[in-house]
Amino acid sequence: MPASSATALAHPNIAFIKYWGNRENGLRLPANSSLSMNLGDLRTETSVEFDSELRQDELVLDGHVAGAEQLQRVSEFLDLIRGMAGIRPKARVDSRNNFPSGAGIASSSSAFASLALASSAAAGLQLDERELSRLARRGSGSASRSVPGGFVEWHAGENDETSYAETIAQPGHWGLVDCIAIVSEGHKSVGSTRGHELAATSPLQTARLGSVNERLQGCRDAILGRDFQSLAVVVELDSMLMHAVMMTSTPPLLYWEPASLAVMKAVRQWRAEGLNVCSTLDAGPNVHVLCEVKAGDQVAGELTKVSGVLRVLQSSAGNGVRLL
Ligand code: PMV
Repeated sequence: MPASSATALAHPNIAFIKYWGNRENGLRLPANSSLSMNLGDLRTETSVEFDSELRQDELVLDGHVAGAEQLQRVSEFLDLIRGMAGIRPKARVDSRNNFPSGAGIASSSSAFASLALASSAAAGLQLDERELSRLARRGSGSASRSVPGGFVEWHAGENDETSYAETIAQPGHWGLVDCIAIVSEGHKSVGSTRGHELAATSPLQTARLGSVNERLQGCRDAILGRDFQSLAVVVELDSMLMHAVMMTSTPPLLYWEPASLAVMKAVRQWRAEGLNVCSTLDAGPNVHVLCEVKAGDQVAGELTKVSGVLRVLQSSAGNGVRLL
């Protein structure tokens, strides 16, 4: 096979209804369906080149040669592609983010969504959106949601074929902005792959899962009806439930920093004062503060004044993964 290459662009997504815990770890079949918005101003570009001269896969992340663990995860993913395409060559992978990775800005979502498209295209496979979403899921669950554009639902499904994500509303449907209050630039101590394995050890996970369909319905309705007040209530409740599970698993995970809590409390205060704003956190200390576009600059400005906030990133809704 001649050397062949492709480059893809994907956006990370922020979950409004969270994915936490797998029904099946190997295939990354989630314990529950989830809902998210792609973050169009944050980008990951990934290039893949299969080359029969290479003796092993190579991975460069943000200009640095990746560590053994990251390389192994990517190699295992590339093995799936090689199996599907019936090819043997190793690959050179170069991935770049325009935002800090590993601190609760779900960089694995855009990383594996862009890797899924770039590597499948470079291997000569032509996959449709659903097939790509299923494939990206194998690298990182949330990556399945970065394949379609805009506001996205990942159906938990029953098996590999039925667990995929699809758009429920286009990016332009509702002018929401995610103002991300960065309170730490460091890498998280316990990654989400390990976290998903611990979810079932929390006595609260059963309660979270038992009520998630109601929240999914509420969140879907709030998005489709552009109803911020309802969105705020369900988004904050769902984030708190996931963090309650994290905090009460064995061993426990506590991702919040003092500044994370300060931001959450400030956001509640602003909402009580009449501003359409709410907060949600992934597996890290940075706080995603959602508001409408017209309030974006004001909210970002207020966030920078909260003690412990280092800087604020802003993003509106974005498209799905595409080739460059
Ligand atoms: O895709 P993973 O395995 O990194 O899991 C993502 C988990 C959360 O970001 C905490 C929640 C979510 O649904 O994105």
